[in-house]
Amino acid sequence: MATVLGTTQLHLDQANRLSEAGHTLDFHDGDGPIDRRELLARVSEAEALICLLTDRVDEEVLSAGRGLRIVANIAVGYENVDVEVARRLGIVVTNTPDVLTEATADLTFALLLAAARRIAEADRAVRDGRFPPWSLDQPLLGVDVHGATLGIVGMGRIGYAVARRGRLGFGMRVLYHNRTRNKVAEQEVAAECVPFDRLLAESDFVCVHVPQTEETRHLFDAGAFARMKPTAILVNAARGSVVDEAALADALEARTIAGAGLDVYENEPTVHPKLLELTERVVLAPHLGSATRETRHKMVELAVDNVLAVLAGDPPITPVN
Ligand code: GLV
Repeated sequence: MATVLGTTQLHLDQANRLSEAGHTLDFHDGDGPIDRRELLARVSEAEALICLLTDRVDEEVLSAGRGLRIVANIAVGYENVDVEVARRLGIVVTNTPDVLTEATADLTFALLLAAARRIAEADRAVRDGRFPPWSLDQPLLGVDVHGATLGIVGMGRIGYAVARRGRLGFGMRVLYHNRTRNKVAEQEVAAECVPFDRLLAESDFVCVHVPQTEETRHLFDAGAFARMKPTAILVNAARGSVVDEAALADALEARTIAGAGLDVYENEPTVHPKLLELTERVVLAPHLGSATRETRHKMVELAVDNVLAVLAGDPPITPVN
């Protein structure tokens, strides 16, 4: 039977599924991430690697894993894994799509609402004893979400789940920009496929749902912000690299756009210092997209399903290569 290296501890019921299948578990159980040298040493004994988005699984790791048959990334994104090298070495790479779609869409909408209605600022005000008097022009005035225009950049699974919330829950008009038309979104939520520039010009809320690639790097730069409404709010729960963080901080400071709800950053866990200083209509979360008990459990379950399948000689369930 095989050795399964985990760069983190898994839920007990899922770890048990691996041991009940006769596999040997070698799970990292330190507080922080696994040390690189340790990863290189331990992967050489493993047939399966279960890892996190924060583990860099590059050529060095993949070649050190001489008997490696599968890398099961517990995330939908997999830019941390060198998929090309894995393909060349005959190693299957899997991710965890679908199971985290709804949780990530919930978090996206939470950021949108929080930035629009200034929830983080309001919370700080109440705790600091600055409860503002009820008045018509009180300092924490926000903007309407219901009936506003929602621009979705990247109408994949998560983009569509956000569009559904916007349309069906908040009566929003939905615009989207995507490489291919999404007919389901057009029929179900009356989403309109528009050029990127038109989406920027007309949306009150712009939500980013594209993967991290060379093409999407800094898709949102100073030029993009200049084309958005000065009242617009940007929400990014996809990947930090899609947004030029310094340009975003400048655009917020200059009020080129009105606000932002961010869950991801260019150099996690570091956040651009200027963004940290901007508190008005800016809400920052620490990469929480899929962070619910139920969803994280489902992600681990799917990673284990993939490992069990490949080690049993069956096709993986959610391969990316
Ligand atoms: C999280 O960011 C993921 O890709 O699952």
